[in-house]
Amino acid sequence: SGVGVVVVAAGSGTRLGADVPKAFVEIDGVTLLETALDGVLASGVVDEIVVVAPAGWEARAQECVDLAASCPCAHRTAVVTGGAERTDSVAAGLAALSGDLDVILVHDAARCLAPPELFGRVVAAVRGGAAGAVPGLAVVDTIKIVDARGVVTGTPARADLRAVQTPQGFSAPVLRAAHAAGIQATDDAALVEALGHEVVVVEGHPLAAKITTPEDLHRARALSAARAD
Ligand code: CTP
Ligand code: MG
Repeated sequence: SGVGVVVVAAGSGTRLGADVPKAFVEIDGVTLLETALDGVLASGVVDEIVVVAPAGWEARAQECVDLAASCPCAHRTAVVTGGAERTDSVAAGLAALSGDLDVILVHDAARCLAPPELFGRVVAAVRGGAAGAVPGLAVVDTIKIVDARGVVTGTPARADLRAVQTPQGFSAPVLRAAHAAGIQATDDAALVEALGHEVVVVEGHPLAAKITTPEDLHRARALSAARAD
C-alpha cells in the first residue's frame, strides 16, 4: 500500500536551450528538480519517490534528492536513467517503484512550482475510486484541429476543453497495465484512457504550468521571487 511518485527529469530541454538538461537549470541557485521535489515532499502524501534522470546525470539528480529530503530515511527514494521519449522515462521509473503501492503519481520536474495541495487533490480523487485523476484548467484560447496543410477541420467547444498538468495520479495496477501496452503519448492519462478506464479532471493550478521555453523560465523566476517576498 502507499503512494509512489515518478518524477520525470530525463528530458534534454531542447526548447529551453540551456547548457544543462532542463531539470538542472536553476532558479535562485536551486535546480528545477530540487524545487519539484520540495513540492512533492511538502505535500505529505507520498511514501516513495523515483527520480528519472538523463544518462550521465544520475549522481547530480541524487544530490538534488538529498538536498530536498531533509530526512531521507522517511521516504524510499531511487534515481534511475531515462529513455528516449517521456513515456520510456515514466516506464523506467515505474520499474523502480515498489510493487505493493496502491496509488502512483507521475510528475514533470519541469512543473517545479506545482503547489503541494495539488498532490493531495489528485491522490484523493484516485482513493475516491477514479482509475486516473489529472489536474486541469479551463482553456482561454479557442482551439482548432488542423490537417497536415494547416486547414481547419474542426473547432471543439471551448467549454468542453481542459489544459491538463501534472501530478497525474492512477490506481497502480491500471498505470502499470497502461504502460505494458507499449504505446507512446504526451501524458500518462492518455495511455490509461486508451485502455478504456475513467480519468477525472480535478482543479489544476496556474503555478503547475510547465517550463518549456525561455519565456516560461523568466515567468517562473518572477513568480518565485514574488513568493519569496
Ligand atoms: N522527460 C523525460 N524523458 C524524456 C523526455 C522528457 O523524463 N525522454 C521529462 C522532462 O524532463 C520533463 C517532462 O518529461 O520534466 C516534460 O517534458 P518536456 O517539457 O518536453 O521536457 P524536455 O523533453 O526536456 O524539453 P524539450 O521537449 O524542449 O526537449
Ligand atoms: Mg520534450
